[in-house]
Amino acid sequence: MRTLSNLLITGGAGFIGSNFIHYLLSNSEFNGRVINADKLTYAGNPDNLTDIDKRFGASRYFFEKVDICDFEAIETLFQTYSIDTVVHFAAESHVDRSIFGPKDFIQTNIVGTFSLLETARLLWQDRQDVLFHHVSTDEVFGSLGSSGLFTETTPYRPTSPYSASKASSDHLVRAYHHTYGVPVTISNCSNNFGPRQFPEKMIPLMILNLLEEKPLPVYGDGKNVRDWLYVDDHSSALWLILRQGRNGETYNIGGENEWQNIELVHLLCDKMAKAQSKNKSYYEKLITFVKDRPGHDRRYAIDCSKIKKELGWKQQHGFSEGLDATILWYRNNLDWVEKIRSGEYKNWIARNYLKR
Ligand code: NAD
Ligand code: TYD
Repeated sequence: MRTLSNLLITGGAGFIGSNFIHYLLSNSEFNGRVINADKLTYAGNPDNLTDIDKRFGASRYFFEKVDICDFEAIETLFQTYSIDTVVHFAAESHVDRSIFGPKDFIQTNIVGTFSLLETARLLWQDRQDVLFHHVSTDEVFGSLGSSGLFTETTPYRPTSPYSASKASSDHLVRAYHHTYGVPVTISNCSNNFGPRQFPEKMIPLMILNLLEEKPLPVYGDGKNVRDWLYVDDHSSALWLILRQGRNGETYNIGGENEWQNIELVHLLCDKMAKAQSKNKSYYEKLITFVKDRPGHDRRYAIDCSKIKKELGWKQQHGFSEGLDATILWYRNNLDWVEKIRSGEYKNWIARNYLKR
């Protein structure tokens, strides 16, 4: 079992990173320090972590506003905090944005990952008591037909600028392991949902539009399939990999919970109707089919039997229960949403979505 002392978490102010920090610091088995390195792009939100400072104090959690592409800054961080573990979340993460403008995706996802790996190689030398964990996506595998599942050995076939940049970063991580012996693990996870997800992503976008009785934009015919996982189940999988994952291995993580987008939107309408004592049809009338995303992958689905068998992981949160918790979180945190909307997000929507 690995001991984790000084964890560098990149992108810890984003959706999954901030949930992971909450998970980690609340976990009694972890007593190390967390160093959160985040550039605070439009998706990075210090409000995701305000209570962390209060709950865990100044000796467990440190925030550093850093661009992962900045070699010198990363090197300084490794040295200042004696980093022994990296959990690399930082990325540009939204497929639609990668279609409108891929440049930042290439820079952060590829060059940023390279900068972290190169620092780890140079500063860790041949140490074997360290680990670079790379958080990746199932989207690197491309699109499935109506049957079959992605396994750890499925060939890569990314189709969007986002997935191509993540695939590229996965390849770099493996190359640094094979060529230089840097201790690494990789995880490829399916679609996450839960509190603190940026409201451009499908589930929070639909929840907020339902609350505000705005149109629910469903891309294409709505029959694209995604496998949904509650974010804390992703965190528990990452924790197991960090502690017990085998050096050089890849682990797929998934919800075993496939939904067509349109079915999921109907489920959310049903939940909102019950919560507001209205007819389901009242909300279903808001469903609006819009122009499809270019190159929209049809289906993702994960075979996560390896992490289940090898590390004893399993999903703990049912889909319905996770959605209820997520809806409740957004209802209780409308000021969080409002703050985001009043800033750059609003301008981005105006520039891109409204053009469609
Ligand atoms: P997010 O967009 O919510 O957060 C990304 C974070 O990275 C933000 O805090 C942002 O400020 C930071 N960041 C971006 N560029 C940076 C840079 N150059 N330097 C430092 N920080 C930078 O993303 P997320 O949904 O939390 O995803 C986190 C990771 O998990 C990503 O690597 C993503 O590919 C992967 N992933 C996401 C999902 C999902 O469903 N969201 C599923 C599987 C894998
Ligand atoms: P998204 O949350 O963007 O995740 P990803 O593209 O990484 O899977 O989208 C999830 C699915 O929902 C995807 O098939 C696209 C679809 N979608 C819509 O139909 N309408 C929307 O407004 C959004 C944001 C997504």
